[in-house]
Formats: sequence, structure tokens, C-alpha cells
Amino acid sequence: MRITKNISLKNFNTFGIDVKADNFIELTSVNELLAAIKGEKDFFLLGGGSNMLLTKDVQKTVLHLNIKGIKISKENKYSVYIEVNAGENWHKFVLWSLKNDFGGIENLSLIPGNVGTCPIQNIGAYGVEVKDTIHQVNTIEIKTGKKVVFKNSECQFGYRNSIFKNSMKGKYIITSVVFKLTKIRHKLQYNYGAIQTELENNKINKPTIQNISKAIIKIRNEKLPDPKKIGNSGSFFKNPIVNKSLFLKAQAKNPNMPFYLVDNEQYKIPAGWLIEQSGFKGKRYGDAGVHENQALVLVNYNNATGNDILNLAKKIQEKVNELFSIELEMEVNIF
Ligand code: EPU
Repeated sequence: MRITKNISLKNFNTFGIDVKADNFIELTSVNELLAAIKGEKDFFLLGGGSNMLLTKDVQKTVLHLNIKGIKISKENKYSVYIEVNAGENWHKFVLWSLKNDFGGIENLSLIPGNVGTCPIQNIGAYGVEVKDTIHQVNTIEIKTGKKVVFKNSECQFGYRNSIFKNSMKGKYIITSVVFKLTKIRHKLQYNYGAIQTELENNKINKPTIQNISKAIIKIRNEKLPDPKKIGNSGSFFKNPIVNKSLFLKAQAKNPNMPFYLVDNEQYKIPAGWLIEQSGFKGKRYGDAGVHENQALVLVNYNNATGNDILNLAKKIQEKVNELFSIELEMEVNIF
């Protein structure tokens, strides 16, 4: 356990927002975590800091979960169960799985953040969501300090959503996640346009999980800003899901509007398109901006405050609502 007083959180959130924490405790084991929460009930939990926007100094004690370790808990000819501690970097775990030829998370390559937070928002990309590979989530109940296991079916996973964002919010701390990955007969997903093009360009017609990961890393690097260079939190908003009547109205006015059918009554519209049509793509207001290659990503060019980013996000919400009568919901947690 390492305790630091009056520390900047700039290096602990991928937006690179410079706020201060009075009291910062780094935890490297479940025992340290248990000791820390025994005396402290009102704290601020910080993992990889990849899905949050900090708008003020943190006066509560910050608990930085940095528990490391990856271990195989059981395996057979077809699949392997791997317990990964919360503080492991997500992409490092993806690379580890590829090195071992374990399949299932290759499409989730290069997503920023830590393993412990991946179930909370059910990270997803290129047709895969992390829920497809999660076997169980191991937690500590804050009130009692007891270990509680959530099986996949108990996590209420949905699009960028889970029980940990809703009824169980703030009640449990995720200490590790058990994944079930494939050892043979990997289920490959590469029908997403950009992946196929990238594979074709490299004359790969029977891709391996490693080929798919490489293609996705290339696509993401071209489209999405690297948080180490330009602060950001990936997609700032969720892609809105609208009902049929709203969809038909919007489509009548914008025949070229892209969409995905969720079911007969619901349509998902790319928020990036709505934001681009509203004129924000590539725009910069001081150090807060909208990324030039992907309008769904808000960026901190250097010294933006959390409120600079938040005000821009609200401006975008208002304009999109005015033009399309569609409400954009923020995906990022605001503090
Ligand atoms: N589009 C635009 N302008 C833009 C961006 C997008 O018109 O500036 C339109 C295009 O029509 C494009 C469509 O939106 O075809 C979809 O864009 P893209 O393939 O980039 O995906 P997305 O829906 O914007 C989602 C995830 C990303 C994930 C990609 C790829 C959400 C909120 N975002 O973005 O996840 O990487 O699909 O699967 O669902 C993240 O959550 O942080 C994230 C980056």
C-alpha cells in the first residue's frame, strides 16, 4: 500500500485532466484493498481512468486499484479459463492471449483501460463485446468486505451497460475477472467492412486471431487518437437507440443517415454521424475539441479542464437534439 498526499491525477486518467487528489492510496493486493476499505467508506475508486471525465479536485480518498496477475485456472482441449486481476492493462492481456493463441478478445485489441473496469461498461468493438468471453466477475462487497462472485448471467450485460453501472453501482469493487477463451476452433468475426478491407490489402483470406488483431490495431491507430499523445476517453457518447417513429422522421429528412436495425421497433444510429452532421467534427474550442477522424471522440489537446470538455459535450447534445430530436447519452462517467 502506497499513500501519497496532494497528487495530480493527470497521469491517472486518459483524458489527461489535471485535477488534484488530497489522499491517494495505491493498492496492489486484495488484502490491502480490504484493509483500506475497512476504515474508509466514502472513497473514489480509480482503475485505468479510461472512462471518466474529472471536472473537479477529488477530496475523497482515491483508491487506485493496481492488483496485477494473470493465471490459468482450468483448461481442457477446447477452452481455457483465465483469472485476470483488476489492475492488469486490458490491451496487455489481449496481447498475452494472442501470444498463447487463445481466441475471443482479438477484436477488442487496443481498447484503453484496465481489466477490472471492462465488465462495467461491457467494452465492445468490431462486432464483439467483452461479455461474450466473461465467465464470472469476482468482487468485494464494500459494506461487508465479503467476496461475492457474479456469474456472467447475473451481470445484466447490455450495450455499454451492466449491473455494475446500475443497481450495484458503488456497492462492489471488481477485484478480478475470469475469462473463457478458445484454444481451438476460434470463432472469428471479421465481416466488419474496415477489417475485411485491411485483410484483403494484406492478401489474407484465412485470417488467424493474430491477423485480425493486427488489422484492428492498424484501423484504430488511423481513426482513434492515442491517449498518450492526445487526451481522450474513446467514444464520449453511446450510439443512440431510437424508436421506429422517431427513426422514420429523421430518415425522411436525411435519406443517407446510416443505421443498424436493433429489432423491428428500434434503430441504432451512429452518434459520430449525428455529431459530424451537426458541424462539430474536427472543431476546437481552446484545448477542448472533437477529433478530426472520429466525431464521437472528444479530445483534450493539452490543458483543457474537465468542464471545458463537459461544456463542449453539452453543446453537442443541444445541437444534435435541435437538428434531429435525438438525445445523446454520455458514455463516459462524469465526476
Ligand atoms: N460516422 C460518421 N462520422 C464520424 C464517425 C462515424 O459519419 O466522424 C459514421 C459512419 O457512417 C460510420 C459509422 O458512423 O460508418 C460507424 O462508425 P465507426 O465504425 O467508427 O463506429 P462507431 O459506431 O462510431 C463504435 C464504438 C467504438 C468502436 C467502434 C468499432 C460505441 C459508442 N462506440 O463506434 O467504441 O471502436 O464502434 O466497432 O459503440 C469506445 O466505446 O470507446 C469505442 C471507441
